[in-house]
Amino acid sequence: MCGIVGYAGSRQAAPVLLDGLEKLEYRGYDSAGVCVHNENGLEPVKAKGRLSVLRDRLEGGSALPGSVGIGHTRWATHGAPSDRNSHPHMSWTGKIAVVHNGIIENEARLREKMLRKGATFSSETDTEVVANLIGYYYEKYGDFVLAVREAVVRLEGSFALGILCKDVPGKIVAVKKDSPLIFGFGEGENFIASDVPAILKYTQTVAYLEDGDMAVFDGDSVEFFDSTGEPTEKKREKITWEMSAAERGGYDHFMMKEIYEQPKALRDTISPRLRNGQVTLEGIDLSAEYLKGLRKIYLVACGSAYYVSVLAKYIIEKTCRIACEAMMASEFRYCDPVVGKDNLVIFVSQSGETADTLAALREAKARGAQTLAIVNVVGSAIAKAADQVIYTWAGPEIAVATTKAFTTQLSVVYLLAMQMAKTLGTMSVGEYNALISGLESLPYDVERVLSQRHLERCQYLASRYHAHHDAFYIGRNVDSGICMEGSLKLKEIAYLHSEAYPAGELKHGPISLIEDGTLVVALATIEPLFDKTMANIKEVKARGADVLCVTLEGYEEQAEKIADSIIAVPKVHPLLQPSLSIIPLQLFSYYVALYRGCDVDKPRNLAKSVTVE
Ligand code: G6P
Repeated sequence: MCGIVGYAGSRQAAPVLLDGLEKLEYRGYDSAGVCVHNENGLEPVKAKGRLSVLRDRLEGGSALPGSVGIGHTRWATHGAPSDRNSHPHMSWTGKIAVVHNGIIENEARLREKMLRKGATFSSETDTEVVANLIGYYYEKYGDFVLAVREAVVRLEGSFALGILCKDVPGKIVAVKKDSPLIFGFGEGENFIASDVPAILKYTQTVAYLEDGDMAVFDGDSVEFFDSTGEPTEKKREKITWEMSAAERGGYDHFMMKEIYEQPKALRDTISPRLRNGQVTLEGIDLSAEYLKGLRKIYLVACGSAYYVSVLAKYIIEKTCRIACEAMMASEFRYCDPVVGKDNLVIFVSQSGETADTLAALREAKARGAQTLAIVNVVGSAIAKAADQVIYTWAGPEIAVATTKAFTTQLSVVYLLAMQMAKTLGTMSVGEYNALISGLESLPYDVERVLSQRHLERCQYLASRYHAHHDAFYIGRNVDSGICMEGSLKLKEIAYLHSEAYPAGELKHGPISLIEDGTLVVALATIEPLFDKTMANIKEVKARGADVLCVTLEGYEEQAEKIADSIIAVPKVHPLLQPSLSIIPLQLFSYYVALYRGCDVDKPRNLAKSVTVE
């Protein structure tokens, strides 16, 4: 959701900004723009639609001279996508240009105030209010940095801002609160961006700005200030991953590349935490006394991370015998949850910046609960705000539809459940050892599901089912959690209406929607429940459904007698089985999306990082 970049140095800024914006496309956007400081003053150029429209307008950037500038990809919140509502926004004085990621919650009041002061507005955005506010204080004090400070203390909501001033050529001021912003240190050039990939081509040395931090910089130097306006130093961090990690590398889509990166991502996430046959989660302090005193563990997240939380409930309850509840972060905040110091609240997030998840985390902390985050992006807001953090080492995930982040989050759930179960003494030695060896071989098992044979099978099934209008995913126990994720994948990238239900629930309503040819994807990967799920398949078959069944190797023959088509995955430890069952569903959705001509990596209306509530 919205991405910002800024550049000051000696190169032509526009191509650098366009490059950076391209790397932020994954965040989701509907328009884009840049503003460069050059001999004409401040020159903004903006365009509704894909970045390619802006790129063409700027002839790849070469048509816009100037070596200092800011850029933006916009995901509309205030006002429809249009050239006019695109960023950068100018103050009515023409002196200030602003790009903004976040939402200004008191924009209506500030807009009134600025209108009374004589400002005019040409867009419906909250960001133009910011530009006008800074413009107003700049007129008043004649000092760029002071004007930004005066404006920022009056803003409520979230923001990462990049700001130019017509009278101060060469300088950019950047400031942030509750939206991500990194600073990139180059040689004779400096950068800001919402995320690392935007600037990785130019520098691997970055600083993560904290809430309230301000950076004032040109190509040669930077000064940082904290929220009180005092000068401060920022720690320089080295990005260890290569640019290739954020490029497609021969694959047609990031999604396929990331599906194939799952064995490595799992290895990177699991192996360092297995030592001498034991799970060792460094820095995680959950004593037996504390765990025994817990009334309930909450798992809070959004989207696919919420489905990991649904699976975590089954896994942690089974292994630790502690009651768990999975909650959507957007609901957790507003339902007055019964949360206090005898609750552990686990937050799951790829980006570490999802607005609802972050807000829920703050709510849980305010109520005295211990918080633990499972996060992929190092140094992100959720990682910083939680009491304890376990990173997934999935590497950058660019496709909007998550794949490797999902499976690595799930692997962290296994590790955490095992560590807690061991501490509590709720798992037998035999079971513990079986899970350890299951975890060790999990990356190899995933590799097996990614074989050419499975790939071709999923492609064939997609060719067979892609023209359906509706799909119902059914399964029991952990299979029902995988159904939710599989169903979400299909609707988000293939725009095919799809719903997921625990198989036993189908009779309580949804079965009335099953008619001749309705697609039902049934998961039957839990041995003790196989027969029960087959019975549910028979019920939908009797009403005309076309059933695709995901089951275990060895069960094909039985399943084939009932379902119309089968995909079989290798049988592993039952608790780890979801990590394999999801893979064919990822591949199936991918190919269905291709057959339906969808933009797999950038599905309509969606954003990868949802930074507004
Ligand atoms: C968006 C993404 C999903 C993701 C969800 C939560 O909806 O498209 O893939 O699961 O946000 O994001 P998070 O970064 O908190 O995991």
